[in-house]
Parts: sequence; structure tokens; C-alpha cells
Amino acid sequence: MSGGKDSLSLLYMLVKHGEELGIREVYGIHVNLGLGSYSAESEEVVLEACRNLGVKCLVLDLKSLTGYSIAELAALSKRPPCSVCGVVKRYLANLAALELGADAVAFGHHMDDLLRFALKNLLVGGRAGMLKLSPVAEGVPGLLVRKVKPLYEVYESDLELYARIRGIRVVGSTCPYKYSDFIAEAVGGMLDRIEREAPGFKLGLARRLTKLWGERSPEGVSSCRVCGMPSSGDVCSFCKIMLRATGSPPGSEVRSRVRALAAVLAGGDAGPLSG
Ligand code: FES
Ligand code: ZN
Repeated sequence: MSGGKDSLSLLYMLVKHGEELGIREVYGIHVNLGLGSYSAESEEVVLEACRNLGVKCLVLDLKSLTGYSIAELAALSKRPPCSVCGVVKRYLANLAALELGADAVAFGHHMDDLLRFALKNLLVGGRAGMLKLSPVAEGVPGLLVRKVKPLYEVYESDLELYARIRGIRVVGSTCPYKYSDFIAEAVGGMLDRIEREAPGFKLGLARRLTKLWGERSPEGVSSCRVCGMPSSGDVCSFCKIMLRATGSPPGSEVRSRVRALAAVLAGGDAGPLSG
């Protein structure tokens, strides 16, 4: 969870409707990226939501796990902070879910996100990028946890309303590296205009697209030579960043730390745990 309205609303929904959805237990996962007051506030609102709902939360502090913040990793690896951030969060979310023995990791991507990026990928990306947006991505036992996006048919405006009605406190500040993706924004504007003229258009499009994609199967996933985590090549993206930034591979230390934290959390009472 980032601390924004999407992930926190999803947490509320999964907990409040857990029984009807057949969910046994929900854990929160938050990565503190080391981005000053933005990261401090994000962690605070995530922990507040988890406390309110009695959810156990695993907070992974990037700086203490790897020795570096996102800004430092980005500068050292000479890559844009947002792309480093995406790789790090995906890696740690999967690792934490594996160590917690979870059946699936749920992400709070809503329908507007999904459509904006699907159409953007159609214009400037490729099939691989489109497939990443599929609402269900199957996992590989012991390597990759199944990914689900339960909000893929939810309008962003409905989600905003949900968070407001529930009184969910979300992070007020913005990530210092937030940039405007003008292609995604232009596509979003076009979809909004069509929706105004033809209400329900976005929902129909989202359904057609997800039917077209089907469930994403983890073809070509092997295990990283350095850390043993999933990778489409010889070395996973996380290890590549760490190698480029620090000159040495992260080794198994990150995994051992996450494993120890997950074990304590799974065995303990409801409450946050960080490390
Ligand atoms: Fe990841 Fe901004 S939240 S770089
Ligand atoms: Zn690796």
C-alpha cells in the first residue's frame, strides 16, 4: 500500500467484505522508500488504516534493507526514480507475499488507470506492457505470487467517493518525483469525453479488454541467478539495479531480513512491524 486512496480503499474493501469474498486473512505490505516527509506521512496513514481495521502490516524500510533510499538508488544506477521505484516495489511486494505464505497480492489499480495505460501501450508500448495490465496474473509456486487487481471495474471517481464516505485518511503530500505522463493524460481526457457522451463506455471497454487478455500466465519466468527470485532473464531487474548502483549483488540478505520480519508478523498479534 502506498497510502493513497486506491490502495487504502482496497484494504478497507478486502477486510469489510472478506467473508463474502472467501478471504481468510489480509496482510498489509508497505515499502518506506526513504523519500523524506512524503515517505513518513505515507507510512503513517498506512499504519493508521491497518490499526483501524486490525490488519497486520509489514513495513519494509528500503534504506535499512538495502542501505539506500530510492533517490540514492536512482542516482547511483542512473535511472529515473519512478522506474527504480516500480521495480523495487514489485520485487518487495512479491517477496513479502511469498514469505507471508499469501495466496495472492492485491493491487489497487482502478479502471481508469487500467484503460489509460492499456491505450497508451497500444500507442507507444507493446504487447508485453498491455498484458501486464491484466486483472489476474497467475503465479509460480515458491517463486511468484499470483497478482490480482480487484478494482479493475471500478471508476476512479467512485473510489474517491468511497474513501471520502469511509473517512479514510490518505497521504496529503505528493511524491517529489511525481511527473506528468502527458500521453496517459491525453488518453484519459479522451476517454472522459467519450464517457460523458456515452455513459458506461469505459466499463464496456475494460470488460472487452480483459476478455481479450484472459488470465496472464507466467510464461518465460525463471529464477534470478543472483537472488533466486523471479526473472525473465538471467538476472532480475532488482539485482540489476543493485549491481549497477553498488557494484555488488544484494545477495540473500534482503530475503533473509524479509523472511524474519514476515515470520514474526505472521506469528504475532495484529499490529505493524517494520524493518
Ligand atoms: Fe515511487 Fe514516487 S512513489 S518514485
Ligand atoms: Zn535477483
